[in-house]
Amino acid sequence: MLFMLILISQALGDQIVLTQILWRNGACTPIYCNWKCKEFEQQGMLNGYLTPIGTRQHYVLGQWLRKRYIEDMKLLSQFYNEAEIYIESTDVNRTILSALSNFQGMYPMGTGPKINTNLNHSYLLPPNQKEFEDFGDEALPGLQQAVPVHVREKQQDIYLRGYDAQACPRNEEFRISNVNSKLYYEINDRAQSLISDFAQQLGIVASQLNITDLYYYQDTFDSCQQNGYDLPKLKESTKSQMQLLQYLYFSLEHNIDFEQTCLLATPFFTNVLLNMENKINNQTEHKFRIFSAHAATVQLILNALNLTSVECVKQVYFKEEVQNKNCIYTFPGYASNIIFELYRKLGHENKYYVQVLYNGTLMPICNNKYKCDYEEFRAIIQFQNIKNYEDECLIFPKIKKHAAPFLLQAISVEITILFIISFCIVYLLRRQRKLEEYTKIIEQFDA
Ligand SMILES: *[C@@H]1O[C@H](CO)[C@@H](O)[C@H](O)[C@H]1NC(C)=O
Ligand SMILES: *[C@@H]1O[C@H](CO)[C@@H](O)[C@H](O)[C@H]1NC(C)=O
Ligand SMILES: *[C@@H]1O[C@H](CO)[C@@H](O)[C@H](O)[C@H]1NC(C)=O
Ligand SMILES: *[C@@H]1O[C@H](CO)[C@@H](O)[C@H](O)[C@H]1NC(C)=O
Ligand SMILES: *[C@@H]1O[C@H](CO)[C@@H](O)[C@H](O)[C@H]1NC(C)=O
Ligand SMILES: *[C@@H]1O[C@H](CO)[C@@H](O)[C@H](O)[C@H]1NC(C)=O
Repeated sequence: MLFMLILISQALGDQIVLTQILWRNGACTPIYCNWKCKEFEQQGMLNGYLTPIGTRQHYVLGQWLRKRYIEDMKLLSQFYNEAEIYIESTDVNRTILSALSNFQGMYPMGTGPKINTNLNHSYLLPPNQKEFEDFGDEALPGLQQAVPVHVREKQQDIYLRGYDAQACPRNEEFRISNVNSKLYYEINDRAQSLISDFAQQLGIVASQLNITDLYYYQDTFDSCQQNGYDLPKLKESTKSQMQLLQYLYFSLEHNIDFEQTCLLATPFFTNVLLNMENKINNQTEHKFRIFSAHAATVQLILNALNLTSVECVKQVYFKEEVQNKNCIYTFPGYASNIIFELYRKLGHENKYYVQVLYNGTLMPICNNKYKCDYEEFRAIIQFQNIKNYEDECLIFPKIKKHAAPFLLQAISVEITILFIISFCIVYLLRRQRKLEEYTKIIEQFDA
């Protein structure tokens, strides 16, 4: 019913003006050294490279985005328009490649730029090439479309990898305390039978294993499953318990409490709100912004939107009653994605609302609403954003920023003092001379 109403109102002309998408990379090779480690290592695979499967996943997601935003909603131009689209990625091969693959789906072969064929052909060649290969009017063969992807180095990437110690040093403290928390040991104790069962099936020693290791194993299994690499033969019940534990462990390690979540999510949300604000004030032509990132980024933002939490995942795991009815308790798998859409209301030129989709499904936000007035969305997010992010994260350049004006002040004070002292000296010297001259004159008179 609610969905119908939303659909109808949008059909009647609420107008989408901006879409921002955060996604995780597609399927990749394993990262952790556990299952078949030697084999993967020998083939140079233990790096989390995007695989052909992951490439395809993002290409198909790109097709889905094309259908929604180019064909159905007509938010974007039929052909790629640089002014409309801005793509950011973490500085990691698999996320950059995910973004590039995705845009091949959004702007597929045949949509790329054409050249003016009346032009002198020599203009089509770089200075080191004299031979001419004729592609007709296709700038790139097959009319492919290339797109720019922006990255920040890890240390600066507080927006998409704020959970990394290099971006927010404070988070390392949180992480360490999370994996040494009471909850960690509680879950670890409750997982003992799973651990011994799992170890037995794999033929490994159980005594060394804890839930961290099980999480690492499951991460490798995800990669094997998705890419068709060999998998161990595990009982179905073990498999499903492993998957549930994977997400519980992940939430536990990354977002044990809401304050930590708010801190880490602050730069991302500041960015998202600023983009909306700029759109509403007609200060940008961008209509489509991409954040190509990681499972931890997606899970952080789901947490910050109250769509999941370590409590509710724990309740699911322990088969307790789940308080948060919206609780997402599955791990954000490859190419999982969160979309923030901003709409202008029909007949209200200055009224806007926000919708959030997860994996393409509308999610309840702002106390269980599928459509949240922009003002309310902004108020809620701004309220939970941390005001002094850099201090809380123990980011040190801030201190340098303070140091600079301080140093300048100190120097100017010193110069002033020096000036006053030298003025005094000059004055005193002159006075002394005058005094001497005066004494001489007196002496002459006396003589
Ligand atoms: C990304 O690709 C480059 C070039 O192929 C490679 O040197 C580098 O190790 C890769 N980075 C990671 C983190 O795998
Ligand atoms: C094309 O431009 C090149 C270099 O500017 C020039 O040498 C050549 O004569 C031009 N060809 C024609 C057909 O105008
Ligand atoms: C769990 O295992 C990991 C990796 O084997 C280890 O680094 C960590 O210290 C262990 N954690 C606890 C709380 O025992
Ligand atoms: C922005 O543009 C829209 C549509 O062109 C207009 O209705 C709205 O009043 C403008 N907003 C501002 C803040 O200028
Ligand atoms: C999430 O829940 C907390 C605690 O109830 C609340 O303060 C916060 O505003 C909520 N945030 C969002 C985005 O709904
Ligand atoms: C979202 O998509 C990912 C990737 O397919 C999947 O692992 C996850 O379970 C999905 N979550 C929900 C709630 O749809």
